[in-house]
Amino acid sequence: MTATVRFDPAGPLRGDYTPPADKSISHRAALIGAMCDEPVPVRNFLDSDDTRSTLDAVMTLGAGVEEEEGHNCFLIRGVGLHAPLEATGGLLNVGNAGTLMRLLPGWLAGQPGGVWTLDGDDSIRRRPVDRVAEPLRLMGAAVDAREGRFPPFTVRGAELTGIDYELPISSAQVKSCVLIAGMMASGSTTVRQPSTSRDHTERLLRRARVPFEHDGLRITVSQVDELELDEVVVPGDPSSAAFIVAAAILVGGSRVVLNEVLLNWTRTGFLRIAERMGAVIVGDLETPGAESDQEPVGELDVASGPLEGTVVEPEEVPLAIDELTLVALLGAYADGQTVVRGAEELRLKESDRIAGVVEGLRGLGADIEATPDGFAVRGDGSPLRGGTIHANGDHRMAMLGAVAGLASIDGVEVVGMEAAAVSYAAFERDLRALM
Ligand code: S3P
Repeated sequence: MTATVRFDPAGPLRGDYTPPADKSISHRAALIGAMCDEPVPVRNFLDSDDTRSTLDAVMTLGAGVEEEEGHNCFLIRGVGLHAPLEATGGLLNVGNAGTLMRLLPGWLAGQPGGVWTLDGDDSIRRRPVDRVAEPLRLMGAAVDAREGRFPPFTVRGAELTGIDYELPISSAQVKSCVLIAGMMASGSTTVRQPSTSRDHTERLLRRARVPFEHDGLRITVSQVDELELDEVVVPGDPSSAAFIVAAAILVGGSRVVLNEVLLNWTRTGFLRIAERMGAVIVGDLETPGAESDQEPVGELDVASGPLEGTVVEPEEVPLAIDELTLVALLGAYADGQTVVRGAEELRLKESDRIAGVVEGLRGLGADIEATPDGFAVRGDGSPLRGGTIHANGDHRMAMLGAVAGLASIDGVEVVGMEAAAVSYAAFERDLRALM
C-alpha cells in the first residue's frame, strides 16, 4: 500500500540521536557468519526488510539464526565455507537487497554440484548482475542471467580457480563477491579497483584470519579451509544518519549530536563534502587511507550554517555513493553551483537516482539538471518552495523528500514513504523526535 506523508517546514532540530545499525555490515556479518564453523554472535544487527532477506537466505542454505536476548542480537550457526549447502536447486529470494544479490553468488559459486537461482522484486530485476557473473565465470562457475544481464540469476557451483581481476567499476559489492569466491578458489585471487570503495568485507575477512594482502588499490586473498570470527558488533549506519545530518544542516538554528556512528573513512565521503560546502560537523572521522580490521565508531556534532556550491570528483563518488542525492539537496540550498561527476552508477541503484533526484527536486523548485555522469544544481542560498515528490519504491528517495520538506517554504508530500522500511523503518519517528 502506498503511504503519502507530509513533511512541513520545521523549527530547529535539537537533541541526541542514535542511527539504526549499518546495513552493509549487517549483511556481511550474517553472510560471513554463515560461512564459519563456530557460531558467531552478531550484536545490534539491523532490523530491516533488506537484512531480513539475508537472514532468510542463510537459513534456506542451512545456517541457524537464533535470536538472543538484547537489542537485535542474533547467534549465526554457520555451515562452514565448504559445507554441502542445503536446498540445492532452490530459489533464493533477495527481495530488494542488491548487496545480497551480488555477494551471495560469490559463496554459492564455490560449492561444486550446487545449483541455486536468485531472484527478487521488480527493482532488483532491473539491476545488472553481469558485473558479478563475469568474474565468477572466469573462476570456473557456470552462471546464467536473464538477457545475460538481469535476475533471475542462476549459479552452478564448481571447483574455482583464482584469478587476477580488474574491476571495471569501483563497486564494493562486486569486489566483495570476488573476494568471497577467492577464499574457495585454488591459489590466490587478486582484485584491482579503480578507486577505493567501502571496505567492510576486507575488515571482516582479516578478522576471520583469511590470508590477505592489501597494496593500495590491489587486494589479494588466498584459499582457506575454515573461517573463524569472534562476535560482530554492528555500528550505526552513516548512510541512514546522513538524512538526519542533512536536516540539521538545512534547518536553521539546528544542533544535533549523533551517537555511535560508523566513522570508517570509506563511508564518510558525504560528511567531508558537506563540510567543504560549509556545514559545521565535529567528529573524529577516520583518516583517509587507514587500514584496520576494526570499524571505528564515534560521535558527530552537527549544526546548521550557510552553504556554498562544490564539485564532487569521480574518486569521491564511491565514498559517498548512497548520499549523493543529499549532496544535490544541499546544493539546492547552497550559493553557487554544485556538480557531481563520475556518478553514472546512480542510474543502477534501487531506482534511477539521477532521474529521480533531478525530477524530484525540480518539482520542489530546484534549478537542477542531469548530466551524462551525474547532475548539476544551482542555488542562491534561499530555500526550496516545496511540493510533491515520488519515492518510486526507493528508500533513500523517500527519506530525501522528508528532509526537503522540513527545510522548504510550503512543505513536501512524499508519495511512497513506506519504502523507507527497506533500510530504516523508524526514520519518520526518529526525525520527528528531534523537532
Ligand atoms: C553496498 C555497496 C554500494 C552501495 C550499496 C551497498 C555494499 O553499491 O550503493 O547501497 O554494501 O557493498 P556498489 O558496490 O554497487 O556501488
